[in-house]
Amino acid sequence: MPELLTVGNWKMNTTVPEAVALALSVRRDLVDKPVPDVGVVLCPPYLSLPSVSESMEGSPVMLGAQNAFYEPKGAFTGEISPAMLAGLCEFIIIGHSERRILLRESHRVINRKIKAVLESGIRPILCVGETLEQRRSGSAARVVARQIASGLNGVSDVRELVVAYEPVWAIGTGLAATPAVVIDIVKNAIRTQIHKMYGASMADGLPVLYGGSVNPDNVSEFLEDPSIHGTLVGGVSLIPDQFLKIVRLTSEIKG
Ligand code: PGA
Repeated sequence: MPELLTVGNWKMNTTVPEAVALALSVRRDLVDKPVPDVGVVLCPPYLSLPSVSESMEGSPVMLGAQNAFYEPKGAFTGEISPAMLAGLCEFIIIGHSERRILLRESHRVINRKIKAVLESGIRPILCVGETLEQRRSGSAARVVARQIASGLNGVSDVRELVVAYEPVWAIGTGLAATPAVVIDIVKNAIRTQIHKMYGASMADGLPVLYGGSVNPDNVSEFLEDPSIHGTLVGGVSLIPDQFLKIVRLTSEIKG
């Protein structure tokens, strides 16, 4: 079975001291009551990564960045490269819908970022998901399959890849998708596309997360399906006891 992950995406929240305090509370709890079968990944803002990384040393908590640029260095004002993140984090979220929509990141940009992240030896978490309009018009599976195909265009090795299915209409709305919707897209868009591009064993071995208004009350219904290996948690990841409940439920249900 692919690895189990609970990923907390803090988005543009927390000052540096707040980030360290939040990460330390997660660390303390996981050291007191270890959950060895679930990988716990915190994704603070870039600015906090060095301090949080220092305060997580020697703990089971892993770190992720929320984005990275595709060039290693140069005249790209305001950008951060995967090379700069090496040593600070093990994962980088790429293609989050907030970046696709608000920052207008194209399929091509996301593809270049995925390649750059893989080249740096950090693991990409590729986010895919349709808008409400696309779902209503019946094109959800096609949209997600295209995001996978274009995001991975020219990528030969996906062993380090994680995919997060995050329907745009479920993010930050309090309206999570239903398990039936998630299972359908994971099977018929994500794994089918990976199967086409990389074969059956890659498709079966790919860790796939669900994200979109995940909380301790609704997480079990997603985790009960064998095709889901964890969650990408936004708002609730800022509330340590709720986030930790999700981590523990992941272990209880899937571990
Ligand atoms: P949410 O965000 O849990 O606040 O809906 C999820 C995400 O954007 O990754």
